[in-house]
Amino acid sequence: MSMNKRENRPVELPILEALERHSQDERVSLHVPGHKSGFGLPTAFHTWAGDVARLDQTEVAGLDDLYQPIGPIAHAQGLAARAYGSDGTSFLVGGSTAGNLAAVLAAIGRRERVIVARNSHQSIWHALELAGARAAVMTPPLLSTGIGGAVWGPITPALLREAIAKWPDAKAVIVTSPTYTGVVSSLRELTLLAHSAGMMMIVDEAHGAHLPFHPALPESAVSAGADLVVQSLHKMTGAMTQTGLLHYSGPRVDTARLQRALRMVQTSSPSYVLLASIDTVRAELAHTGEERLGEAMERLATAADNLRREHPGLLWEATEGVPVDPFKWLLYAPALGCSGIELADQLRIRHGIFTEWADEVHVLCAWSYANSAQDVAAVVSALRDVGDHLQCKGQGDAHALSLDAASWGAHAIADLVELPLRTKLHEAPSVTVSLREAVGRRVVDAVTVYPPGVPLLLPGERMTQPLCDCIEAALQAQIRVDGLTGDGLHIDCVG
Ligand SMILES: Cc1ncc(COP(=O)(O)O)c(C=O)c1O
Repeated sequence: MSMNKRENRPVELPILEALERHSQDERVSLHVPGHKSGFGLPTAFHTWAGDVARLDQTEVAGLDDLYQPIGPIAHAQGLAARAYGSDGTSFLVGGSTAGNLAAVLAAIGRRERVIVARNSHQSIWHALELAGARAAVMTPPLLSTGIGGAVWGPITPALLREAIAKWPDAKAVIVTSPTYTGVVSSLRELTLLAHSAGMMMIVDEAHGAHLPFHPALPESAVSAGADLVVQSLHKMTGAMTQTGLLHYSGPRVDTARLQRALRMVQTSSPSYVLLASIDTVRAELAHTGEERLGEAMERLATAADNLRREHPGLLWEATEGVPVDPFKWLLYAPALGCSGIELADQLRIRHGIFTEWADEVHVLCAWSYANSAQDVAAVVSALRDVGDHLQCKGQGDAHALSLDAASWGAHAIADLVELPLRTKLHEAPSVTVSLREAVGRRVVDAVTVYPPGVPLLLPGERMTQPLCDCIEAALQAQIRVDGLTGDGLHIDCVG
C-alpha cells in the first residue's frame, strides 16, 4: 500500500473499494439500474463504456446513500474534508452548478440581500433567483490584455469595503476566484472584511480545485477562511465531468440547512462512477498532487518563457501583484496578426489543438497536470508555426472589443448597483422587441454568451448600444447566446 507523502497515511479509496466488494458479492441484480452492471447496454455504447458501467451501481446494501451518508460515502467525504482542510465536504454530482445552487439556498433567504460580484457564473444568478434574494452587485475592475482586449480583474478589498458600507445589512458576499481566465482575488482579506461585517463568505472556486495541493499556487478559498466553497473537479483536476465538492467551515454555516439544500438540487440517484471518480481524484491529489502539479508548472513556466521571448505580447501577463493560475494561458491573438477566433481555428484545423475558448482577441488554453511534456511542446511549436507563416494573414482587429470587455464597458459607471427582484420583473407587463429596440429597456432574462457563462446582461439591467452591438457580433460569429426569444433575434423587456 502506498503512503501519503503529505500526511504519511495509507491511500484509502472507500467508494471504489465498496464497489469492488459489491461486484464480487453480487450474482444477480434485481435492482436499478436496468443495464445490470453494463450487460444490458446497447452494443455501440458498451464498446466504449462497458467497464465503466460495472461501477454504475445504486444505493444497495454496502454502497451507502449520498442523501444520508453513513458508510463509504461518509468516509470518503471525511477524507476530502481532511485533504482540503475544511470542517466538512459534500460530494457534487451536478458540478459546481449544483454546489452554487445549494450554497446560496443554504445561506440566503427570501428578500435577504447579498453582495455579489458582477462576473459571477450564471449558476449563481440562478441560485439568487431561486432563493428570492436581493442582488447587490459589485463590478470588478478590468485588466487590459492588449489593445481592445480585457478580462475581469480581482475583487479588490477597497471595492468590497465600499459595497459593505453601502449594504451593511447583506447576509453574504459571493465572489468567483479564480475567474475563468485564472485571475485570483485576495480571498483572505476579503473574507476578513466580510466576517467583520457579520457576513458569510461564499466562493465559487469552480476553477480552483487544484490550488491547495502546491505551495506555489495561489491560496485556496478554504485556507483563506471562506465559509462555503464550491469547486468543480472536472475542470482543473482529473475527475469525470459533472463532479465537484462543496466545502463548509466555521460557525456561520447551518449544516442541516445546507444538506437540505443539497438534497433539493442533487439527484436522488447519484452516479457511482462520478462518486468513485471524486474519491479517487481526492486521493491522488492528496498523495501525489504536489509532485504532479510541480512538474507540470515547471514545464509550463519554461514554455511560457520561450513563448514570451519569441512572441512578445502573445501570452498575457497580469499586472504586478495580481495572482493568476499558471495553468491558464490567455493568448492575445493580435500579437500574431490575427483574431482570437482565427487563431483557435488555425490551432484546431492545422494542428488538432482544441482550446477552451476564443473571442475576437483572445484564446484561452486550460492546462492541467495531465497534459504531457509532448502536449506543451506541440502547442509551442503550433504557435510558432502559426506565427511564422502568418496563416491568419493579419486579419486580426486589435481594436475589436472582447466580449468580456464589452460587458464591463457597459457597467463601468455603475459598479455598485442593486438589481430588481426577479419576481417583480415577471409581474410587470413585458414586450418582445428586436435587439435594437431593446436599447434603453430593462431585460427580463439574463443574456449569456457561452462559454464562459457570465451574463452580459442580468435580469432587470438595461440594454445598451455597446451590448447590443456585442450580442449582434456574437450571433454573427455563430457564438452561442442564451436568453434571446423566438428566432433568437428578439428579447423580452419591461418598460
Ligand atoms: C466560475 C464558474 N462557476 C461555476 C461553473 C459551473 O460549473 P459546472 O460546469 O461544474 O457545473 C462554471 C462553469 O463553467 C464556472 O466557470
